[in-house]
Amino acid sequence: MRRFDGKTILVAGGGSIGPGMGNGKAAALLYAREGGRVLVVDRALEAAEETVALITAEGGQAMACAGDMTDPAAIGRATGILRDWGGIDVMHFNIGTSLPGGVTETTPEDWTRVFDINLGAAFHLSRAVLPMMEEAGRGALVFISSVASIRSGLYSYASYEVSKAALDRMARSIAAQYAPKGIRANVVLPGPIDTPHVTAVVAPDADPKELAAKRAAMTPMGRQGTPWDVAQAAAFLASDEAGFITGVCLPVDGGLTL
Ligand SMILES: NC(=O)c1ccc[n+]([C@@H]2O[C@H](COP(=O)([O-])OP(=O)(O)OC[C@H]3O[C@@H](n4cnc5c(N)ncnc54)[C@H](O)[C@@H]3O)[C@@H](O)[C@H]2O)c1
Repeated sequence: MRRFDGKTILVAGGGSIGPGMGNGKAAALLYAREGGRVLVVDRALEAAEETVALITAEGGQAMACAGDMTDPAAIGRATGILRDWGGIDVMHFNIGTSLPGGVTETTPEDWTRVFDINLGAAFHLSRAVLPMMEEAGRGALVFISSVASIRSGLYSYASYEVSKAALDRMARSIAAQYAPKGIRANVVLPGPIDTPHVTAVVAPDADPKELAAKRAAMTPMGRQGTPWDVAQAAAFLASDEAGFITGVCLPVDGGLTL
């Protein structure tokens, strides 16, 4: 028996922003390898389709769905598919964006945009899936946040840090409210992870080799994490093995936050 046999899983942001393995893509693949039926939702249809192609090539079950998860109408389309599938067991929220700059360097428009993506999408999705989970009397939510929600790092990016801190708090608020209903909510706080997102969004102007060495040197373990490190932690928190764990913010950071 595999950990997600017979389970239905929504991975929000299950594509990858560039070629190679991202956190959402790895999570979707892992859930499927462990028997889950995965709805891969992404605002970029091709990115979702690429993840689904990898899953189906391995004999797993998955479907791609295009949709911007800041838009409640698109969320309605995704949850409609889940209803047709008979409900949802796990909601894995991987969506996130970052923008360099402290408070004074961030425009109000950019601040709102980052919050809409990092927090607003998680809020709208949670509002949509929690009633379905409540009906079933079970469910697990896993939110991918960041160690930036609890500490300052190499760069100053206030909108990212603050929206991720709010995401942690929202997960704990959900965990407290829904614990008596058999629904758990947990958070993964990745440290520096080697994904295409870093060179595409976090530091597009940096020399990739230098950047990778700098990020590796940040952790006591002397390396960046892989998307699989994040996916394994998330899959554990989403699984029945973590049945008595809720409201946890788990760093996956090679000891960075020690
Ligand atoms: N790589 C790191 O070092 C690191 C560190 C800490 C946290 N994280 C977190 O990991 C997550 C990103 O991981 P990744 O490598 O998979 O990144 P990614 O950017 O490759 O993947 C995110 C996916 O989400 C999609 N997406 C973005 N906004 C969306 C929206 N509004 N609606 C639907 N889809 C949307 C993108 O198209 C993309 O395919 C983020 O939450 C990020 O904050 C990453």
